[in-house]
Amino acid sequence: MLDIVILAAGKGTRMRSSKPKVMQTIAGKPLLRHVVDTAQQLLTAGTSPTVVVGFAKEQVIAGFTSNEITTVEQREQLGTGHAVAQALPYLRDDAVALILYGDVPLIQKQTLESLVAQTDSNSLAVLTVNLPNPKGYGRMLRNSAGNIIAIVEEKDATQQQRTINEINTGIMAVPVHLLKKWLPELSCDNAQGEYYLTDIIAKAAAENIVVNSAQPEFVWEVEGVNDRRQQAALERAYQAYLADKFMSEGLALQDPARFDCRGSLSFDQDVEIDINVVIEGKVHLGDGVRLGPNCVIRNSTLAAGTVVEANSIIDGAQINESCTIGPYARLRPGSVLQKNAKVGNFVEVKKSVIGVGSKVNHLSYIGDCTMGDGVNVGAGTITCNYDGVNKFRTEIGDNSFIGSNSALVAPVVLAAGTTVGAGSTITRTTEIDDLAIARAKQRNISGWQRPTKK
Ligand code: UD1
Ligand code: CA
Repeated sequence: MLDIVILAAGKGTRMRSSKPKVMQTIAGKPLLRHVVDTAQQLLTAGTSPTVVVGFAKEQVIAGFTSNEITTVEQREQLGTGHAVAQALPYLRDDAVALILYGDVPLIQKQTLESLVAQTDSNSLAVLTVNLPNPKGYGRMLRNSAGNIIAIVEEKDATQQQRTINEINTGIMAVPVHLLKKWLPELSCDNAQGEYYLTDIIAKAAAENIVVNSAQPEFVWEVEGVNDRRQQAALERAYQAYLADKFMSEGLALQDPARFDCRGSLSFDQDVEIDINVVIEGKVHLGDGVRLGPNCVIRNSTLAAGTVVEANSIIDGAQINESCTIGPYARLRPGSVLQKNAKVGNFVEVKKSVIGVGSKVNHLSYIGDCTMGDGVNVGAGTITCNYDGVNKFRTEIGDNSFIGSNSALVAPVVLAAGTTVGAGSTITRTTEIDDLAIARAKQRNISGWQRPTKK
């Protein structure tokens, strides 16, 4: 039986931010949300991690639903041992408590599983790592048999102990009944005057309770975020990991160092992504999809064969097979492109369906519109969907042809086969195959004298 405690009371002064540190982001997601999501994967349904909050606790709590986390306040930060002690009333006596940190966001599920596998009701396990430069961390002390006997903090360590490279990541799994015995016994008689969680290790050794250890697959899993440099470094490490994983699954990335995924990406075969593409939210790319440079794709599905040219933004859209988008296109939420549709440069589409093979190639705004198949929309065409108070829909029937620079004033319905003369302002419904033309008649005045300078 597993319970999880996440320490998140710290202020994070070095971030120099008004936001609590654990609400800063990596890969577009708050640090604490990473940890909570991973914790949820380990917990049985119906249980939630206990988060120890303190600094700006309202902002932290507001980031989660009450089902997702149980919170407990640590009013004064008296050390990691004191922090975990606040959570004790929420922990089950016969459970093992896994202790995580809200500012160590990228710990992976498999690593925690292997750590927890090293414990039972009468042994504990510490996640450790060997660092070439262990400065600042608690060091693992082992006896001549190699058994862990204590953790000593850098500030309390002797010169000799400071040469030890194996460090305490802080993450450990401890039977709850032992935590309940040991935490109230901790003293703060040390260099920092804090109640150290790490002091329980010496207590375990003194009682002949076995202390096991496990190591993470990647060092970045146990790296914390204390300042903007560490945040950026961890972001890059994580993005490099994601890019590598995606490439091993067949994604063709033009440059893995210039690719960012801030969400979840799935893809089929032969997908190619050019430089500086940002993926956000949930995105799926079908067979042979190509994304040009500098595109942002958010919460969208792009079906097989679709090509997105440079500098396009696709948000909340459903793109069917073999569409062509961009360069410089913007598809906003609720956009649906049917098969073979084309949306070209400087075109904005919102809450609209672009029918099979229909084309909106240049400089248009299509909002709240249902467009049939085989429609051609000329350059500069606008759906006037908003009267300043309400939004209205425009319907354009199959095989219509909208001349350039037309304004379609919604609500309006153009029947199939409508032709709109260029420069028209259309306010009335048309019948099948009508020509609608609504523009001032041209007058020519012959022999016109231009004004001259006085
Ligand atoms: C701790 C470990 C150290 C380990 C290091 C790994 C102790 C005594 N030391 O040191 O062995 O190598 O982590 O990074 O545990 N926190 C609270 N309330 C408190 C104190 C801390 O919520 O009263 C939270 C902090 O917000 C932070 C985390 O616990 O997220 C770690 O606390 P910190 O004081 O930074 O511990 P370290 O000195 O880094
Ligand atoms: Ca720290």
